[in-house]
Amino acid sequence: MQSDPLFTPLKLGAVALKHRVIMAPMTRMRSAQPGNVPHALNAEYYRQRASEGGLLITEATDITPQAQGYRGTPGLYSAEQIAGWRAVTDAVHAKGGFIFSQIWHVGRISHSSLQPGGALPVAPSAVRPAGEHTDASGQNVPYETPRALEEAELAELVSDFVTAARNAREAGFDGVEVHGANGYLLDQFLRNGSNKRTDRYGGSIENRARLLLEVVDAVIAALGAERVGVRLSPWNGFNDMSDSDGEALWNYIAAELDKRELAYLHVVEPRSDFTTDLPPDANARDATSHFKSFFKGPLISTGGYVAETARAAVAAGRADAIAFGRPFISNPDLPERLRIGAAVTRYDRATFYGGDHRGYTDYASLAGETNQDVLAALPRQSATDKIFAWVP
Ligand code: PHB
Repeated sequence: MQSDPLFTPLKLGAVALKHRVIMAPMTRMRSAQPGNVPHALNAEYYRQRASEGGLLITEATDITPQAQGYRGTPGLYSAEQIAGWRAVTDAVHAKGGFIFSQIWHVGRISHSSLQPGGALPVAPSAVRPAGEHTDASGQNVPYETPRALEEAELAELVSDFVTAARNAREAGFDGVEVHGANGYLLDQFLRNGSNKRTDRYGGSIENRARLLLEVVDAVIAALGAERVGVRLSPWNGFNDMSDSDGEALWNYIAAELDKRELAYLHVVEPRSDFTTDLPPDANARDATSHFKSFFKGPLISTGGYVAETARAAVAAGRADAIAFGRPFISNPDLPERLRIGAAVTRYDRATFYGGDHRGYTDYASLAGETNQDVLAALPRQSATDKIFAWVP
């Protein structure tokens, strides 16, 4: 029998994976309050999803109080948070798994009610995103016009990312993923729809990429490149992102990141919109293949994959590993289900954000609900059709 391309070893920097089914970072808004502290419920969630030689990437994690954009997202700046994350990483390591922390600043995708002292959210420029945001009380309110960061504040931001990276190491993480995707702060600097600056951090592509690359270089200096990944979402319009020349921008960034010997680059395909249950847009750009021609290190691709498309992407060398988001919510043992071709449980969108254990740690794994005989009797062809039973 031919070996399954998803279940072959892969080295991502310092981490030696046994398989290529990665859990994508996902906001779940269930940290303990006050203080945005990871707690036992979160440790149980990640423990359930850990697998021998598998990689989990945490939900996006606030590097400072100012970095926060949603209620209940966890942080990585206080002693309590570091201790809370230590319980998470211990639980994952006890199962032979690996875990990276995704370190995050939301920039303008916040609201003054979520900001220290009720201050305005910060951004490269005072450009208000279109649409509405959920404030600290859970109401949907129009976005505010953010305050443009002073140039002197950018060095502090770089050092906030470094402090979070060091805290991640102290908490036992195997590495960090710098969140440069999805319209949050670093992405806001990259694209000229949101970056109107006229200093060294705005204007040319080199200038717009400066903050991301300074953060990446500083985090590499703190942890070593083999412990640092970067996530980008090229050509993705989520959170009101736009750029006048994406091609030139992403080519430059891919080539620059290629020089840095990162543990990995993580590309979010623009074809998939995780805020809906629509099927991937077949006409969207293939960002993964595009990046692969500039970036020679390990590449994780994500966005709307099912078992077959994941296998095909890895088999063709288009990507080295595939990250799954929503299916990992409802299938704690997703790698095992893909490996044996077992049915995949449908997720419940109503319990994605906030709340308690329901829709979080109460999804069953095969091992928890059945024995080997039943396992062997499960249909072997159903995994791919059932991952996304695209119900609008
Ligand atoms: C979200 O909370 O909606 C969210 C967070 C991080 C992302 C994307 C979406 O990268």
